[in-house]
Amino acid sequence: MAPGELKLSENNVTTNVNDRSQHGMWSSRLFFVLAAVGSAVGLGNIWKFPYMMGEQGGGAFFLIYLFCIALIGFPVMAAEIMIGREGRMSPVNSVLKLARESNRSKNWAFMGWTGVFGGILILSFYAVVAGWIMFYIWRLFSGEFNGADAADVEFKWKTFVGNPWSVFAWFTAFMAVTIFFVARGVNKGLELAIRICMPLLFVLLIVMLVYGLTQGGLMDAVRFMFDFDFSKMKWDTPVAAMGHAFFTLSIGMGAIMAYGAYMPREGSVKSAVGIIVVIDTLVAILAGLALFSIVFALKLDPAVGTSLLFKTAPVAFGNLPLGALFGGLFFLFVGFAAFTSAISLTEPAIAYFVERFNTNRVVVALVIGVATWLLGILSVLSSNVLGEFTLFLNWTFMDFFDKFTTYLVLPIVGLVISIFVGWFVPWERVRKALDLSSTVAWIVWIVCIRFVAPLAILTVFFFTIYVEVILPLLPNQQ
Ligand code: TRP
Repeated sequence: MAPGELKLSENNVTTNVNDRSQHGMWSSRLFFVLAAVGSAVGLGNIWKFPYMMGEQGGGAFFLIYLFCIALIGFPVMAAEIMIGREGRMSPVNSVLKLARESNRSKNWAFMGWTGVFGGILILSFYAVVAGWIMFYIWRLFSGEFNGADAADVEFKWKTFVGNPWSVFAWFTAFMAVTIFFVARGVNKGLELAIRICMPLLFVLLIVMLVYGLTQGGLMDAVRFMFDFDFSKMKWDTPVAAMGHAFFTLSIGMGAIMAYGAYMPREGSVKSAVGIIVVIDTLVAILAGLALFSIVFALKLDPAVGTSLLFKTAPVAFGNLPLGALFGGLFFLFVGFAAFTSAISLTEPAIAYFVERFNTNRVVVALVIGVATWLLGILSVLSSNVLGEFTLFLNWTFMDFFDKFTTYLVLPIVGLVISIFVGWFVPWERVRKALDLSSTVAWIVWIVCIRFVAPLAILTVFFFTIYVEVILPLLPNQQ
């Protein structure tokens, strides 16, 4: 290692002497868990998960997804939190610090860099969808869908997304709120958002569940979700399920790593991971049950792709008792979930640039916010002006940002994280940092992080390339 680097690192280390991050710390272990749950529970659970179930044949998708959560999600999330908490800095610098202390190449910081850019890429389309959600909160409460039929709802949807200005306005509003909170810092911003949103999120989930379960479609919903009929499985289902496991847990990008840097030393990583993973999965299941119960109560067809939330759900709410009220509350629930996820997407970039330029967080947040906002315009236009413009494989810009990050960036970074922690950081340190004193737990964990997770991720990765890139390029064989 060059002497210059050592110098730089010593400087970095001195900012950490008290085992605190310069960006602030969660006020308790509970706040770390709530923040991480807030990041994990988002549009992935409520927008993507149900429609992927619909597209991928329900139960078979669900079963594979559960396997991925357990075998990949669990170890990779623990590894991310551990790196963050050991480093106490942005993902780039935490990885650098750990690599240096393990006498490894500083190129490992690559995974931190992907977090900087990956977060911006994801937020750029995520905030557009969140903007749609904001408009639909308002639309549902206003009673606009009362008595509407599928054609009305579809027309209203098309008119909305077909107009770039309205989508742009809602997207901009969502970005502004997000950046406002993020700029205020870990305690006054992120923690405040979490304090406000998380209790409401849980209350609304319970309200929606009770409402959904009383509408009469529950048994069909259960059958749809838990009927493990593998004949319905498409052969790319594993790919979709694994990519989604990364996305829904917010792993593979450093978001949870950044949050881990603010986690107090007391409190174990493994129980935190357990809680986060279980709650994220439960919310997906419960929100899915609520949504499908409502959809099946009216015998609507769930397999409508991306628009389940914007076409099918409004028809259902519009024709059920008190549907405007509960529909509005449902979209409010989705909005809170999206917001507490969005604030985590910029944290790796913001923390890094604050450290790098030793500058004010507000300035950095504004710059990152504007960059994301500019990039997001491409996704805003994907449903209208640029709707016909596809990059390749029929992907609009929005599809591209979504699939590129979910199928490519997250798994690759997840792979690198598991290899780094599994093979390159001294195992004594990992074991101590994760407090895995029980031999059985340690063996399970190390086998997962060394072998199971990397191999599973590699499988996803090659499958994805095959399904998404090579297959469509082959001449049509039918
Ligand atoms: N997990 C969130 C969801 O399910 C999205 C999200 C937030 C995310 N932070 C992330 C996805 C970091 C990948 C990486 O909606």
